[in-house]
Amino acid sequence: MTLGKDFLWGGATAANQYEGGYQEDGKGLNAIDVLTNGSATEPRKVTWIDKNGQTGFSPLVWGKEFSVPQGAKPALVDGYYYPSHTATDFYHHYQEDIKLMAEMGFKVFRLSMNWARIFPNGDDQTPNEAGLAFYDKVFDECAKYGIEPLVTLSHYETPLALINKYGGWIDRKMITIFENYAKTVFTRYKGKVKYWLTFNEINAMDHAPYMGGGLLDPTPQNRAQGAHNQFVASALAVKAAHEIDPAMRVGQMLAYAPIYAYTCDPADQIAIMEEQQKTFFYSDVQTGGYYPEYRLKYYERAGIKLDDTPEDYELLAKYSADFLSFSCYSSAVVTTHQQAAKADGNLGMAGVKNPYLETNAWGWATDPHCLRLALNTLWDRYHKPLWIVENGLGWDDKLEADGSVHDDYRIKYLRAAIKSMDDAVNLDGVDLMGYAMWGCIDLVSNGTGEMKKRYGFVYVDRDDLGNGSLKRIKKDSFYWYKKVIASNGSDLD
Ligand code: BG6
Repeated sequence: MTLGKDFLWGGATAANQYEGGYQEDGKGLNAIDVLTNGSATEPRKVTWIDKNGQTGFSPLVWGKEFSVPQGAKPALVDGYYYPSHTATDFYHHYQEDIKLMAEMGFKVFRLSMNWARIFPNGDDQTPNEAGLAFYDKVFDECAKYGIEPLVTLSHYETPLALINKYGGWIDRKMITIFENYAKTVFTRYKGKVKYWLTFNEINAMDHAPYMGGGLLDPTPQNRAQGAHNQFVASALAVKAAHEIDPAMRVGQMLAYAPIYAYTCDPADQIAIMEEQQKTFFYSDVQTGGYYPEYRLKYYERAGIKLDDTPEDYELLAKYSADFLSFSCYSSAVVTTHQQAAKADGNLGMAGVKNPYLETNAWGWATDPHCLRLALNTLWDRYHKPLWIVENGLGWDDKLEADGSVHDDYRIKYLRAAIKSMDDAVNLDGVDLMGYAMWGCIDLVSNGTGEMKKRYGFVYVDRDDLGNGSLKRIKKDSFYWYKKVIASNGSDLD
């Protein structure tokens, strides 16, 4: 194995799943703060209050079927459990957690900034100093151990006030509001943070439009406009970062899964092509810098009209992302043969079951080759540096009576993933900046709101209903990953 000496090994988290402290030091609410817990079979719910003061909820399912009744506003409602409020309490454990990351040898720690911690209403005149000060402490702690922060500006954390005021990302005003937020934090953390991502899994606008864009009525028209506004906001963030500090690098973040055809029926190959276009649209614009023809044709057919300006397209072309980062947990399978059984996977992107692969308890397949395939496809298409910023295995880990956690299944998954990634670099010549394992310290699951869907190298004592001491406990994989990093990926045993 010959990964470069500067290869950025590490782990990834998101504020809404990890940080907690949901109302501390002036933080406002965000989209996920009004999202309840769920399970593998029960969707999470957005709670709301309507004009007459009646409360209710809308189940959050992947795709388009979600909507909040006309005039109702997402809000906290008594009697529900909201896992983001404490999550696994990074807010009060950041020193301990970063020390654990340092012990594993992390070179990079991906976290997201809780936008409403900086701007509680999203469009406040001045930022919340206490919120800014919190991240100063976090970045200083990282610097102590030589850990590079990789900061996502918005990981499903649109401030709730912006959703209720503007309908989320469907309104063009969001572009300047986001630009102001980006400029504020770029200026504040200049010299402390070099690597940034704008929107987590920007294609969530199609799969999870409430999470991705705060959309309450995700029609195709609204999703197209929401995506357009985020693209322009992203380009403006790239521009601002380069102006504020030419050393800053701002990347795109895409949810990606290689797609296989279930059969060799040519109709299945066309289905793959069309499915891939839905994802590539997001990277063609944000990383490639142009709107692809297949998408424009679709807009024409669907009667979708964008509220746009000629300058938007100049910005997109001039300030495309510096690198392309992505999440990849598994592959997906598509088919026109309807008898094939439906599968589960990240953001519901899995298609149908792959008979060659095993799955975890949530039905997510484990594919040993998906990273090599993903890396080659994205490299061939854009020739921009790539970064794996999410990959990992969710499992209901058992804490033994002696305080150990034997997660050999996770080690097996990660060993295959790292081997696959290494093949892409060493056999295929892909330019890869780093690898960040998702949920490096246990956190709340995004899809189900559960704690028991754990990803971490470190177990956190907390259950699905918020009970537990929040104590941190090293799993077997902790020691394994430490060895992997120390050997720069050559010792995977
Ligand atoms: C990605 C998200 O979709 O997958 C993360 O960026 C999420 O926020 C991760 O946690 C894993 O999904 P889940 O549903 O298992 O938490």
